[in-house]
Amino acid sequence: MSRAAHIVVLPGDGIGAEVAPQAVRVMTRACPEIDLKFEYADVGGVAIDRYGTPLPEATLAAARAADAVLLGAVGGPKWDDLPMTERPEKGLLGLRAGLDLFANLRPAMLFEPLADASSLKTPLVAGLDILIVRELTGGIYFGEPRGVEMGNGGRRGFNTYVYEEREIERIARVAFELARKRAGRLTSVDKANVLEVTQLWREVVSAVAADYPDVELSHMYVDNAGMQLVRAPKQFDVIVTGNMFGDILSDVAAMLTGSLGMLPSASLSAGKQGLYEPVHGTAPDIAGQDLANPLATILSAAMLFRYSLDAPEAAGRIEAAVAAVLDAGLRTADICPEHPPPNVRRVRGSEMADAVIEALDV
Ligand code: IPM
Ligand code: MG
Repeated sequence: MSRAAHIVVLPGDGIGAEVAPQAVRVMTRACPEIDLKFEYADVGGVAIDRYGTPLPEATLAAARAADAVLLGAVGGPKWDDLPMTERPEKGLLGLRAGLDLFANLRPAMLFEPLADASSLKTPLVAGLDILIVRELTGGIYFGEPRGVEMGNGGRRGFNTYVYEEREIERIARVAFELARKRAGRLTSVDKANVLEVTQLWREVVSAVAADYPDVELSHMYVDNAGMQLVRAPKQFDVIVTGNMFGDILSDVAAMLTGSLGMLPSASLSAGKQGLYEPVHGTAPDIAGQDLANPLATILSAAMLFRYSLDAPEAAGRIEAAVAAVLDAGLRTADICPEHPPPNVRRVRGSEMADAVIEALDV
């Protein structure tokens, strides 16, 4: 073992607390080359219950000091009535801002054996491989002023959709770099026919394109992009867009692959540091029953190896093992047909992780 890495694990709430430990089990077995040290800390609802805040100072400090952060999920009905600034989601948003994780990578890939689980017909999604690059620390999520206040005719609520030129430029560069390593096509999504901030977005992305003559850039309005994703999703290679449009489009893209339970994500800063989490939420309805699909978190761990630890071989091992267990017919409830054919077996979350570990070619 030649090198060490320090990973902070933030399981969070609901099924996050189940899937994160499963991914840690896989990680410890997938990369004998690196001496992995795991440290657990609290974020989200559990942190509210224990410390009265969704993002304790100690958690943020631990995350800052880590090589990478693996997160489960945050939120749940128990904390739904709290004011906006105290909700579990603030923990996640605080981590994104506090670590300057401006680039959110959300791949939507179809694993062939799951084509039936997609909401679209198989020929539309077979071979699907899209990467959504979502700006994560700006836009309307963080814009000021914001709030609800008393106006003349009653209360009024407001948020601010704002992007600085440099914020657009840095996310555009990340997207162009990634497109360059893939099929070389980048679609920038905006609402430049209505919103000035996204007119600027379009201008800046177009200017950055001059540095990437090998990447084919196109622009699309967000409403059309939503439609095209469910009409002909394979036209896309890489999509780059702002925080809120990316939030919405990545859930749409997720469903094309059959289940939110399959989708990993990486949130990266300008350096190597990153936070890795499944795209799905806390699924309170199935929490605590070992029903949750751990594959999105396990695939997030693969991204962690690839982007933060420079260990593409470990990432590849995990991805191959996931493909193998799906090929072998293992399905958690979310991806299992109601009447499974004879070659398909419904398993619990922990059994799925066991099978991935078994399938690792280490
Ligand atoms: C996501 C989630 C978060 C977001 C919530 C939980 C704050 O929906 O990561 O897509 O809106 O960014
Ligand atoms: Mg979302």
